[in-house]
Amino acid sequence: MTYAETYARWKRDPEAFWMDAAKAIDWDRPPSRALFDDDAPLYKWFADARVNACWNAVDRHVESGRGDQLAIIHDSPITHSTKGITYRELQTRVASLAGALRAKGVGKGDRVIIYMPMVPEALEAMLACSRLGAIHSVVFGGFAAHELAVRIDDCQPRAIIAASCGLEPGRVVHYKPLLDRAIEQATHKPDFCVIFQREQEVARLVEGRDVAWHAFQYGVEPAECVPVEGNHPHYILYTSGTTGQPKGVVRHTAGHLVALSWSMKNIYGIDAGDVFWAASDVGWVVGHSYICYGPLIAGATTIVFEGKPVGTPDAGTFWRVIQNHKVKSFFSAPTAIRAVRREDPEGELIKDYNLRSLQALFLAGERADPDTVQWAEEKLRVPVIDHWWQTETGWPIVANPFGIEPLPVKRGSPSVVMPGYDVQVLDEGGSPLPAGTLGAIAVRLPLPPGTLPSLWNADDRFRQAYLTTFPGYYETGDAGYIDADGYLYIMARTDDVINVAGHRLSTGAMEEVLAAHPAVAECAVIGVADSLKGQMPLGFLCLKRGVSQSPDEVQKEVVRMVRDRIGPVAAFKTAVVVDRLPKTRSGKILRATMAKIADGQDFKTPATIDDPAVLDEIGAVLKGAGYPAAQA
Ligand code: COA
Ligand code: AMP
Repeated sequence: MTYAETYARWKRDPEAFWMDAAKAIDWDRPPSRALFDDDAPLYKWFADARVNACWNAVDRHVESGRGDQLAIIHDSPITHSTKGITYRELQTRVASLAGALRAKGVGKGDRVIIYMPMVPEALEAMLACSRLGAIHSVVFGGFAAHELAVRIDDCQPRAIIAASCGLEPGRVVHYKPLLDRAIEQATHKPDFCVIFQREQEVARLVEGRDVAWHAFQYGVEPAECVPVEGNHPHYILYTSGTTGQPKGVVRHTAGHLVALSWSMKNIYGIDAGDVFWAASDVGWVVGHSYICYGPLIAGATTIVFEGKPVGTPDAGTFWRVIQNHKVKSFFSAPTAIRAVRREDPEGELIKDYNLRSLQALFLAGERADPDTVQWAEEKLRVPVIDHWWQTETGWPIVANPFGIEPLPVKRGSPSVVMPGYDVQVLDEGGSPLPAGTLGAIAVRLPLPPGTLPSLWNADDRFRQAYLTTFPGYYETGDAGYIDADGYLYIMARTDDVINVAGHRLSTGAMEEVLAAHPAVAECAVIGVADSLKGQMPLGFLCLKRGVSQSPDEVQKEVVRMVRDRIGPVAAFKTAVVVDRLPKTRSGKILRATMAKIADGQDFKTPATIDDPAVLDEIGAVLKGAGYPAAQA
């Protein structure tokens, strides 16, 4: 069946389409129907089914004879080690960990925070929670203690599973002290913490609260899979919104399983026994969907990579991993490919490896610039497939359905809309715009299985943030257009979210930190174009009159404050001091105009501006600070 036929089949009868896709899942009680819309616009999928995610990701493959196949390959160029775990071993390890968690009182519906680097134990912790019907929330290791504390207070975990440390090139990330500080800061206290001690840094355990990963599993009864309702929350994953309070995206169990299973086959072209590699992190949605659950549900082998595209040890690392583990589909971020290209522009290192196993490179997380796509196509000689989605959706909205039929690639476009999604480009009043016209990208409700049903304990915020601007639609927060052939182009965000090295960050959250500096009267943070990371944050500070500190000192302090409060991942390195910020007459800061000035783009002075002279002042300060930066 072609892509067009597949999409038309979904459009004609979504219920039949998803019930058919659901056949790929092992149910304890099969669903009687797919969509439950009694509480619209909050939707549920396969709600009357009973199912267990861990069973579908692990146990069923052992039962069907894949026990000796590798489920996980851990490849760490940082520790110079490679290790394989078969499906059978994974089953034993996960059942044991789940048994130990159960023995300490963790059960269905309890939240468990996971704060771990790229080690297989991170996936085991996720699967052990799934096994019990406990709801995990993985927190990315690049966030600071405060961000962890915010998440602890929001989801109120019964337990936290953490590693003693993470390893960045040339630096040990001290997870345990960060964890201790976060628990100290948080109002909610977990009953206990499980600490996975890594040999690179063994952490001190807090007596009465912390247990060691191995010791606490001693002598426990392994746990069986606990079937849960189809709409039982599988996990919560926090993502950046417009404020410092992150949004707790909820993922329901059954829809997640069905959608991931469909996408592995039809988008990524992966079957049982294949090797799939997403070079992301378990702390992001890519890590949830396509390092952990997607490949394992498919019965494939997944790679857990602890390294960077460059510097561990060189720009040939990706190609080594693909060769050594016979990777069939590889998923990365454009920024990572740009980093590789910068180090190895001619792709000389690619020639050192045999990449015959590789059938496609998938890119997501930020806009894939045509130049980078073309470079990768020429050097790797496989299709390079941009695809667009979000933490909220959990799987691609727009992609090139490689597993159905590879469509012609139009560089700069993530291609066409996937079954399940009815994507429209809307004007400000919510009316669909014709092809080729730029507008807000929205998806007609209901969203398909696997997408967010709501935010954790925040239905009102969910409605407000996503469903209110365009009634009947989900607002994606991205702007763009669809061409006459149905190819989508993503052009910008419509909110204050920026994308730094494929990481989604909130400028609002950074502004909250800057505003807390005693010398700062007013501030703004924008994203400026960066040739490697796509965007970098840039702060603007208006200082209080009569402050004794030098602007230089304040600038350094706010940079440190953002690193301490949000974390190194914010990559906040620069702030400039200005006399005043450009604002509308109603007091709204004109961030988009400031970003255009910093990027050296043409801009129209907004009609609503209070004093146009401020734009010249901003331009002069930015020029003095080296903006627009020369883009390599
Ligand atoms: N734990 C702790 N710190 C982390 C971290 C983690 N898991 N991940 C990143 N950091 C730190 C980095 O060490 C760096 O710290 P520094 O300021 O001390 O140098 C900081 O956060 C910024 O990291 P990053 O933006 O990733 O930049 P980088 O300079 O380390 O690497 C790239 C640049 C392009 C190589 C890298 O960003 C990359 O590989 N990106 C791919 C992104 C990706 O896969 N995104 C997932 C979406 S699909
Ligand atoms: P995240 O939730 O972290 O996955 O970030 C989602 C956001 O990243 C999207 O809303 C887009 O703004 C951006 N994004 C992700 N993939 C792409 C892509 N292929 N092209 C353009 N932007 C993308």
